[in-house]
Amino acid sequence: MTPSSDGDSQRFRVAVVGSGPAGFFAAGQLLAQSDLAVEVDMFDRLATPWGLVRAGVAPDHPKIKSVSRVFEKTARSAGFRFWGNVDVGTDLTHSELLEHYHAVLYATGAPTDRRLGIPGENLPGSHAATEFVAWYNGHPDYSDHTFDLSSRRAVIVGNGNVALDVARMLALTPEELAGTDTADHALKALASSQVEEIVVLGRRGPAQAAYTNAELRELGELTDADVLVEPAELELDEHSRDTVGSDDVDARVKANVELLREYAATAPKGRSRRIVLRYLVSPVEILGTDRVEALRVVHNELVGVDGAVAPRPTDRVETIETGLILRSIGYVGRPIAGVPFDESRGTIQNEEGRVTDPVTGAPVPGVYTAGWIKRGPSGVIGTNKKCAQATVDRLLADLADGRAGSPDATPDGLATRLHARGVEVVDYDGWEAIDEHERSQGAAQGRPRVKLVRHEELLARATSSRAPA
Ligand SMILES: Cc1cc2nc3c(=O)[nH]c(=O)nc-3n(C[C@H](O)[C@H](O)[C@H](O)COP(=O)(O)OP(=O)(O)OC[C@H]3O[C@@H](n4cnc5c(N)ncnc54)[C@H](O)[C@@H]3O)c2cc1C
Ligand SMILES: NC(=O)c1ccc[n+]([C@@H]2O[C@H](COP(=O)([O-])OP(=O)(O)OC[C@H]3O[C@@H](n4cnc5c(N)ncnc54)[C@H](OP(=O)(O)O)[C@@H]3O)[C@@H](O)[C@H]2O)c1
Repeated sequence: MTPSSDGDSQRFRVAVVGSGPAGFFAAGQLLAQSDLAVEVDMFDRLATPWGLVRAGVAPDHPKIKSVSRVFEKTARSAGFRFWGNVDVGTDLTHSELLEHYHAVLYATGAPTDRRLGIPGENLPGSHAATEFVAWYNGHPDYSDHTFDLSSRRAVIVGNGNVALDVARMLALTPEELAGTDTADHALKALASSQVEEIVVLGRRGPAQAAYTNAELRELGELTDADVLVEPAELELDEHSRDTVGSDDVDARVKANVELLREYAATAPKGRSRRIVLRYLVSPVEILGTDRVEALRVVHNELVGVDGAVAPRPTDRVETIETGLILRSIGYVGRPIAGVPFDESRGTIQNEEGRVTDPVTGAPVPGVYTAGWIKRGPSGVIGTNKKCAQATVDRLLADLADGRAGSPDATPDGLATRLHARGVEVVDYDGWEAIDEHERSQGAAQGRPRVKLVRHEELLARATSSRAPA
């Protein structure tokens, strides 16, 4: 079928799957352009929009979360509809979307975790940071998780910004957390946490750490935690010396190394908690009988491999006693039935946003992707804007050339079909009812919001906005 006709104008229907930054930037770009008349239906498996802006960004970073105002503007644009609580691939299939939309754009993020692949990883007390983050942020899939915070020492594996978020969350005082939108169950658990020392492990050196300056600096601004760095671990090897010394090195790396030297030179102030930044150590085994008791690490040296700096294990090992290990070594995308997936990269198979056939390599008509599921789990919120624009440009060019999909039905029947399957669709009014409730509960406590953390309570609040039939 050709695009829907409305008088003389042609209207194209685009389904955007995923309401995180990539999905919302793409929707905004599709609706802001005026060359083609486009309507956007946005699907999310949760009743709540914003993806990791709600469920990932640390609760003590409210300013970063305010990017949602940009998304709210898009959501109020003519031609936009939200279909929350619809899991594409389960509640609605990929081919059903293609039957109803000229183009389907997947922006489903990277919701699962990478594993270390070492013995003992499944012992109680060993978790993915992904789960811990989702838990303290009130993601409804994780609200029943429990984290035993009775150990005096926690170990975080990984040297990215997520590792620092997690370290900070374990180090913030109850007073610092009180004014945030941390989920209530996490506030309660963190208030009685026994964790005094948080050890953050990098497998490479300080010059290779992935975290950014602002996040590293923030550790030093915590009210009741010291930051410790062992000066010997800051000594740069020849590869890193060359990197840090060269003119064209990333300013981020230089500033990180300088900041770490300042931490190393500062005497601890005897605060209640310590964050210990360690380098050149890789976990090799998690020890314990019924639960985590210690982590065995091997010391590494750095070697140059194909222009990159890689860790190589030495024969020096060390055992760190701990009852809580959080691996923060990156996120991974999840496949959606019927959509070509590159297992090795954990992304939807694509060429610059056009989803491609795994056998022929040719674009699959009408199927696109943006954000972390397109390019892998890296980049800040703003990175997804450019990424989405690159996809949207191709999508619009294909629509204009008649190279996108050819749906044979309008989405009008989809709501009935979902209802028959027992799926309660949450529209944008439903989300606004949740939002208003959470904010009003938060205002009473001097917090941005008090999150509803269970699927049932989110659905009940969303449907409370509906007029009686
Ligand atoms: C812990 C953490 C903290 C971060 N903090 C910051 C920060 O402070 N500042 C910053 O700039 N960046 C931060 N980032 C990075 C930023 O969050 C990401 O760049 C961004 O969220 C990626 O956007 P996305 O839209 O690709 O994915 P996501 O934000 O993950 O959105 C994906 C959406 O798709 C939905 N979805 C998934 N599968 C389906 C399905 N089958 N059907 C329907 N819907 C589905 C999900 O529910 C979700 O809403 C952080 C990342 C993490 C992990
Ligand atoms: N405040 C913010 O702006 C903010 C907050 C959170 C997240 N983010 C962004 O979100 C993205 C994802 O962050 P992230 O922290 O999940 O990922 P990341 O930046 O890719 O960091 C992953 C870390 O895990 C390490 N690692 C990987 N495999 C390992 C292994 N087997 N053993 C030990 N260490 C291992 C990596 O070390 P190697 O380098 O040696 O591989 C790296 O230090 C990033 O772009 C980040 O900047 C931003």
